[in-house]
Amino acid sequence: MSDKSFSLINHKSGEQLGLETSDAVLGPSVVDITKLYSEQGVFTYDPGFGATACCSSTITYIDGEQGVLMYRGYPIEQLAEKSSYTEVCYLLMYGELPSKQELETFDQSIRNHTMLNESFLRFFNGFDHDAHPMAMVSGIVACMSAFYHDTTDIQESAHRDVFAHRIIAKIPTIAAAAYKHSLKQPFVYPQNQLGYCSNLLHMFFSVPTESYEVDPIAAEALDLLFILHADHEQNCSTSTVRLAGSSGTNPYSAISAGISALWGPAHGGANEAVINMLEEVGDPKNISKYVAKAKDREDPFRLMGFGHRVYKNHDPRATIIREMCHRVLEKLGQEKDTPLFELALELEQIALKDSYFIEKNLYPNVDFYSGIIYQALGVPKSMFTVMFAIARTVGWVAQWREMVRDPESRIGRPRQRYIGPGQRDYLPIADR
Ligand code: CMC
Repeated sequence: MSDKSFSLINHKSGEQLGLETSDAVLGPSVVDITKLYSEQGVFTYDPGFGATACCSSTITYIDGEQGVLMYRGYPIEQLAEKSSYTEVCYLLMYGELPSKQELETFDQSIRNHTMLNESFLRFFNGFDHDAHPMAMVSGIVACMSAFYHDTTDIQESAHRDVFAHRIIAKIPTIAAAAYKHSLKQPFVYPQNQLGYCSNLLHMFFSVPTESYEVDPIAAEALDLLFILHADHEQNCSTSTVRLAGSSGTNPYSAISAGISALWGPAHGGANEAVINMLEEVGDPKNISKYVAKAKDREDPFRLMGFGHRVYKNHDPRATIIREMCHRVLEKLGQEKDTPLFELALELEQIALKDSYFIEKNLYPNVDFYSGIIYQALGVPKSMFTVMFAIARTVGWVAQWREMVRDPESRIGRPRQRYIGPGQRDYLPIADR
């Protein structure tokens, strides 16, 4: 506890309530309210948890005012420039950058776990070909708990470790199988001599009848996107994983819950929604009409890919992705043929000069440009959120592992402010 104290006035009794605060290494201190209910009989009220810290964590730090994002203390810009997705996975999971030997061993272990139990592939036949891939992926991940019994004792560190390597290794294979099922094409098995992102591209885009070579630019772009999406502290899907996991459920079910939470358009589903929106806008001359719709309180339309609960200055991931968009489109020879990118750039400029967006601190977020890159790589819209899920799996795993080992962690059980009817007597149906 820090020596700072914090007080609340009880308006009924006039009594001053002293509450202790704990300092953070970076960012705001927290006020400890764990005894508030038992001692004062009141709950705190914070719908959406905008002012509530649900845990202490050592993994990711965000400063929303300054536009800072760090994994284990390393700024995202440095990791994006110098690291690789596999190295970032190691960093998030184990807390430190690996030595050369540690990275090789980790990388090899991930490569060795890529193949799916053959029974899984038969599960896909139970889905219609037009099923959304997120529905298939969350369902199949939940089913993993029915297979890998050697990794469901969450108190065993060896179980947790094998689970972690297994899910990180298999999620691209599951995603690719969902994609192939939607195309009615044969599943493509992983090739363990390929790196993480190259393997994913191979499983997505190769067919048994033709030879396929991974484009190194596509693999590099994917690797960068995955680094940027790997973790984001206590966001909606990560909090879902922690909450589900806090009951002691098996980790595959907890990750599946996170995938479901990610799917929503206010969260990971925004990358798909951005492309839908840009296609609907269609032409730069329509931008002002859509900006006006976004500003209209009576209209549910929002500018997808704009705004963030935490970032109120800029989303550092969006800045990196925006730059990469230029690079990828240029290298793939598509820069001159990408009307959606042009439209996105113009929309961004118009919105950034608009007082509504300025006053509400609404800036492009990570999803505003990521879909354009995915599209350039040939990934269909319905797979965008799946790509996000693949990258975020390591974040969910790292946060889940931290929670399981945290002596302060208890089953998550929020309370409520009840505003329904007071007590009343049951009336027999004939008297109603
Ligand atoms: N377009 C128009 N108005 C907006 C937008 C937007 N994209 N985002 C927020 N606002 C307005 C909102 O209507 C509210 O206005 P008022 O004060 O008049 O009620 C104000 O700005 C504050 O917004 P909020 O909804 O209270 O903010 P929030 O923190 O609850 O929501 C958000 C954050 C990301 C869900 C929201 O900005 C949004 O829906 N954005 C579009 C969807 C999107 O791009 N999501 C991806 C987020 S980043 C990736 C991820 O986390 O997965």
